[in-house]
Amino acid sequence: MKIAIINGPNLNLLGKREPEIYGKLSFDEYFETLKAQFPKVELSYFQSNVEGEIVNQLQAIGFEYDGIILNGAAYTHYSYAIRDAIAAISTPVVEVHISNIYAREEFRHKSVTGGQAVGVITGLGMKGYELALRFLLER
Ligand code: DQA
Repeated sequence: MKIAIINGPNLNLLGKREPEIYGKLSFDEYFETLKAQFPKVELSYFQSNVEGEIVNQLQAIGFEYDGIILNGAAYTHYSYAIRDAIAAISTPVVEVHISNIYAREEFRHKSVTGGQAVGVITGLGMKGYELALRFLLER
C-alpha cells in the first residue's frame, strides 16, 4: 500500500508554531513514529507552502497511490485549485486538520476542499493522521 501525507503552508513549523493549538511535536518526529507503527505501509510525506506545488503533487501521485492524507492548512478555506485537483485525481483523499476548524475563527469553518475528500477529520490533534491512515488501509 502506498499512502502519502501532504501538508500545506506553515505546517513545516509544527512544534514551534502556536504550540497551544498545534502541540509541541514537529511533523518529522511524528512521521517517524507513524512509520514505525505501520512498517508495511509505503508512507511518504510532502510539505509545501506553495499552492501550485500542492496541486502538482496531487496530480503527480493521484492516479498511482492508494490513498492521500491531505492537510491543506489555510488553503483548505479558499483554494479552488486544490479542490479541483482532488476532484480530478482517482486516489481517495482524506482531509485532516489538527485543530477543530469549527471551534476557531469563522473563516476556518468553511472547507472548500472537504467536499471532494472521502471524509474529514478535524480537532483530534496529530492522531488524526493515524486515524486517516487506518481508514485508508481498511477501506
Ligand atoms: C489546520 C487548520 C487551518 O485553519 C490552519 O490554517 C492551518 C492548520 C489544522 O491542521 O488545524 O494551518 O489545517
